Amino acid sequence: MSAERGSAAEVVRVENLAKDFRVGLRARRQRVLEGISFSVRDREIFGFVGPNGAGKTTTLKILMGLIFASAGHATIVGHDVRETEFRRHVGFLPENPYFYDYLTGREILQFYGRLCGLSSARANERVKTLLDWVGLAHAADLRLRTYSKGMLQRIGLAQALVHDPRVVFLDEPMSGLDPIGRKEIRDLILRLREEGKTVFMNTHILTDVEMLCDRVAIIVKGQIRYEGTTDQFLEAGKRETDIVFSSLPPEMASRLEERGAELRGVLGRLEIRVAEKDVTDVLREALAAGAEVVSVAPHRASLESIFLSAVGKAQQRGDSR
Ligand SMILES: Nc1ncnc2c1ncn2[C@@H]1O[C@H](COP(=O)(O)OP(=O)(O)O)[C@@H](O)[C@H]1O
Ligand SMILES: [Mg+2]
Repeated sequence: MSAERGSAAEVVRVENLAKDFRVGLRARRQRVLEGISFSVRDREIFGFVGPNGAGKTTTLKILMGLIFASAGHATIVGHDVRETEFRRHVGFLPENPYFYDYLTGREILQFYGRLCGLSSARANERVKTLLDWVGLAHAADLRLRTYSKGMLQRIGLAQALVHDPRVVFLDEPMSGLDPIGRKEIRDLILRLREEGKTVFMNTHILTDVEMLCDRVAIIVKGQIRYEGTTDQFLEAGKRETDIVFSSLPPEMASRLEERGAELRGVLGRLEIRVAEKDVTDVLREALAAGAEVVSVAPHRASLESIFLSAVGKAQQRGDSR
């Protein structure tokens, strides 16, 4: 099978992809993707992460063969995305799927099943399986008009799975959902991975990245800023350590403050944040002065702050469009 072309472990491969849009009356050229490269591995949940306007949906549309790249190359399971073969391997949930809302959940899935070439009997069977899988068996015969946003998103996911694809592409699958709806979608995405699927998801919701994604690529203003494991990405925030004291002699406290450490009182205890490299020295000195230590723990910057600093660096470098 051609999936084994190139690296078998690579399900999606993007090389130097660029996209220009022509805008305005004089058709000024706007470069929206500036030659991006990344790859998605077999059976992983891959997060394509970036702020609004970064170029995520544009990239996904190129991958789905809906628009064409201005330069560069992309393959899905070894097939060029400008050809049609790859389509039977992929499921796609767009950001705001539009369904005829006078159809029922069962009818819409049957419609997509037949569209994918399933026989009527096979489509019925598949639809039943999927309705159970997304937890909508009870609402199968209600019109989509009566569905909540979360239910619509689950029907959208079922639609993307009708032909049992190997790779599933999701554009902002959790946006606009309430916490329960988000958890439901998250759990389904995790189940997809358990069932051996590869998941590609566009998102700007960082907690979902942290909870779901094995690897991420960070895109800012049409350029990839980072590609790697989510763990490594989070690691960037672990360079500081929080030390909590139950007691700290006042002279030691002022010495630490002189060195620039910020002391905070928390529930009758004192906490300081120090650089990782200073932990041993600070502890040795404090213990020698008679301090009592409650805990020493790596401080993990919030995903937001790591992300913002990646975005900030891009802006400081003066990148502009
Ligand atoms: N059809 C289009 N014509 C012109 N500009 C577009 C078009 N589609 C998207 N863009 C622009 O491309 C940039 C990236 O958009 P998009 O890929 O939708 O970002 P994201 O999905 O990351 O929010 C934005 O500046 C957007 O305005
Ligand atoms: Mg988008």
